[in-house]
Amino acid sequence: MSRWLVNQGLQIAIDGPSGSGKGTIAALIGEELALPVLDTGLLYRYVGWRAEEESVSLDDENAVLSMLDAAITSMVWKAEGIFLKEADAEKDCTSRLRDENAGARASKVAAMPQVRTALLDVQRDIAKLGCVMDGRDIGTVVLPDAQAKFYLTASQRERARRRWSQLKAKGEDADLERIAAELRARDERDTDRDCAPLEKAMDAIHIDSTTMAMDDVVDRILNVLERRKLINKK
Ligand code: DC
Repeated sequence: MSRWLVNQGLQIAIDGPSGSGKGTIAALIGEELALPVLDTGLLYRYVGWRAEEESVSLDDENAVLSMLDAAITSMVWKAEGIFLKEADAEKDCTSRLRDENAGARASKVAAMPQVRTALLDVQRDIAKLGCVMDGRDIGTVVLPDAQAKFYLTASQRERARRRWSQLKAKGEDADLERIAAELRARDERDTDRDCAPLEKAMDAIHIDSTTMAMDDVVDRILNVLERRKLINKK
């Protein structure tokens, strides 16, 4: 049981680049506060994956847009992941969305303004009851009125090293230099795009986690929330 009383409908936005630790931090904060954790990157990964499943080239924006509505209405997104609606069940497709290929495809569809617009309502609807939501534009575009916003960063080298050790831990054959190059390319695409680029919201608190333990980042965030009376100890 959570040791906190959480203000009703509390929305916590966590943005940052790939590998900044925002997914891990969002999960820890969600667990601590018993709030649903919503990973918005999964939505873009899902759209990129559906395009691949349907042999739609990501270089053909019109073709991606023409499959978009059906792709969105045929899925259910929740804290546990993304599920495909099937005749009599929901099929979990989250694990297929986690690999590097899905991540690279996601950053391409995420640069398409109409894809972003189509996913806005999905994100705002689910956030209404309160949540920890992580992504790139949560504090700036998706939930501009979120009561608490955090912008997490870490040096590019440290972020690459974290990805590398995650892959190693899973027993995968990982090459640090290749991961660093892919991360640089992803950072550039996410930061330089015209539509909702990765940037810190004016009212977000910046936390550089390069030399911090994840638990210390969590404590810092809980501290801010408590000071602002968004959460109170039971
Ligand atoms: O966080 P992630 O690696 O799962 O995100 C996958 C891609 O989706 C990443 O390149 C950035 C993009 N993205 C985005 O543009 N906006 C979001 N709110 C979340 C992710």
